[in-house]
Amino acid sequence: AGLNTAAVALGKLYFGSATDNPELTDTAYVSQLSNTQDFGQITPGNSQKWDATEPSQNTFTFTNGDTVAKLAQANGQKLRCHNLVWHNQLPSWVTSGSWTNATLIAALKNHITNVVTHYKGQCYAWDVVNEALNEDGTYRTSLWYNTIGEAYLPIAFAAAAAADPSVKLYYNDYNIEYSGAKATGALKIVKLVQSYGVKIDGVGLQAHFIVGSTPSRSNQASTMAAYTALGVEVAITELDIRMTLPSTAALLAQQSTDYATTVGACVDTKGCVGVTIWDWTDKYSWVPGTFSGQGAACPWDSNFVKKPAYTGILSALGGS
Ligand code: G3I
Repeated sequence: AGLNTAAVALGKLYFGSATDNPELTDTAYVSQLSNTQDFGQITPGNSQKWDATEPSQNTFTFTNGDTVAKLAQANGQKLRCHNLVWHNQLPSWVTSGSWTNATLIAALKNHITNVVTHYKGQCYAWDVVNEALNEDGTYRTSLWYNTIGEAYLPIAFAAAAAADPSVKLYYNDYNIEYSGAKATGALKIVKLVQSYGVKIDGVGLQAHFIVGSTPSRSNQASTMAAYTALGVEVAITELDIRMTLPSTAALLAQQSTDYATTVGACVDTKGCVGVTIWDWTDKYSWVPGTFSGQGAACPWDSNFVKKPAYTGILSALGGS
């Protein structure tokens, strides 16, 4: 049995991983990612983002996203689609355009309609809006918020729902996995979208954590319960747990405990549908490129050997 098999046996929909196009030339990597005992779901880490899909206005390129979608289909894996509206990885025609409220809403709707229509029927879920909040729970001052105001959120969800009525529509963010001002902000976003009479189906908890300082299982579970009380599901969408290098046996043991804590919180929560790790091997983790001196955040090492974290996750899922 593997991680996905164990998750499904518990009534979850999947255990999965992010992946990215450059890695797909690594045949050993692809063969391990395609093992549905461990991975029942994949998420494209970059290739469905705005800069990848609409590099110039109203010209859409789906080649790389399609490669990941086809891999999921060939393997019989669910696809989490990521993402439609974010402040990062925007093409320059968006960031340096001169926008009015009306023209930016039109461009936003056109992007969402085209991308969601292209992937219609292929995604389990879309991360419709990603990272709209500051740490204090207020709205991030992005192009979207500055030009359109908070209405950009319901506008985005409504456009996605119109283009694919059956895909699950998620709000996705980090540091909303535990109680506090930012989680309160995410609850406010769910209520905001609902107050417009617009569909929102889920909250994605990214869960980019640090070894030894992850929130407790009970705090994560009660925070998940606060979301599901609003009638939405939750998912762990980008789990990884980084450490200051070099890794030691003690750090790897703590990392295993920490992975089990977060996966266990999902197990404890009926409305938590699944867990996605933000790539499965340290070889392709985003962490060292962003946090200098940190890494080793994934459950497999850079030689594709299982770390103690693998066993921690598996036992949290009741597997062996
Ligand atoms: O495509 C260019 C390439 O042409 C160039 O040669 C190369 C040189 O650095 O950069 C390439 O772009 C990189 C891109 O990934 C594609 O590989 C960017 O530099 C790099 O910053 C970018 O990082 C991605 C990051 O989002 C950007 O914010 C990571 O791969 C991706 O894993 C990460 O994912 C995000 C989620 O979408 C949202 N939540 C946080 C998570 C981690 O940051």
